Amino acid sequence: MDTIFLKAPAKVNLSLTVLGRRPDGYHEIKSVLQTLDLADELAFSLKEPPQVQVSCRGPWAHQVPAGASNLVFRAATLMLEEAERVGPKGPFGARIELLKFIPAAAGLGGGSSDAACTLKGLNQLWQLGWDQEKLVSLAGELGSDVPFLVMGGTALAEGRGEKVRPFVSRLRLSLVLIKPPWGVSTPAVYRDWDMANPAVNSDKGGDARRQDRERRDPTQVLIHALEAGDRDRALEAMGNDLEPVTLKMHPELQEAGQALLACGATKVMLCGSGPTQMGIMDGPEAASRAARVLKGWFPGWWVQEACTGEPT
Ligand code: C5P
Repeated sequence: MDTIFLKAPAKVNLSLTVLGRRPDGYHEIKSVLQTLDLADELAFSLKEPPQVQVSCRGPWAHQVPAGASNLVFRAATLMLEEAERVGPKGPFGARIELLKFIPAAAGLGGGSSDAACTLKGLNQLWQLGWDQEKLVSLAGELGSDVPFLVMGGTALAEGRGEKVRPFVSRLRLSLVLIKPPWGVSTPAVYRDWDMANPAVNSDKGGDARRQDRERRDPTQVLIHALEAGDRDRALEAMGNDLEPVTLKMHPELQEAGQALLACGATKVMLCGSGPTQMGIMDGPEAASRAARVLKGWFPGWWVQEACTGEPT
């Protein structure tokens, strides 16, 4: 078989409600996830078994860890193990080349998307014929956002993020993304959220507080607005519970948010646990103009226009 080329899109959280910490240490969330046209690119080709070789190029290649902690490598290892467990088809080998356009530790799901893409790419390359349901269930072993990224599009994610229900959004949003030259650790952000919300995690009265958070959660309103293509209502319902935590840790991100508003953003939100901030713009031209200005104001920061929807 020839080389298979696939794109691994970035994601943003259009909403992220944290309901509380679970006994396993993860947090119960409700989040509307959305993929973007910004994407990494992966190429899969057959190689002498039983080896999987991963190489990385592109603007953010230096941020990708080598070896076993690399999510592409972990996804490939999981596919190998599962293929050997279920089939008599092997042995399998693959060469995977990753072209990295999504910065790491940015809150944009880049590593998770590379992992999701690896599941799909190897499923094709090795002609395993597994359905999406199987890939989604394997994806849950690799990270909370990986199941959604196997599907892409727009979806409600629940549980720790791995329970995914896709739906059709009629809104196409033009965005400007801005990220400082450093990343944040998602576990550290969730730890700070715990410190800021001790009552929600408490055994005494925590359940009632969680139910109250669930009642006030605007996610359902957001889903209806996206399905109806109601931009004003959607923008009003968007929000991210991790935003105050990350902005408190890194006040310079607030300046970036103010700058996005000054450049015409109708709404500014943190992407996932951050540190990328996204500005929702009035259209692609407004996004281009804002990106040009922000690059001048924030030298050394990454500034990128993007759009919700599929990579082209
Ligand atoms: O699942 P993933 O590996 O992407 O999560 C990274 C870390 O983020 C977890 O180890 C956990 O500390 C935190 N997390 C969480 N609750 C979630 C998702 C992630 O506490 N729903």
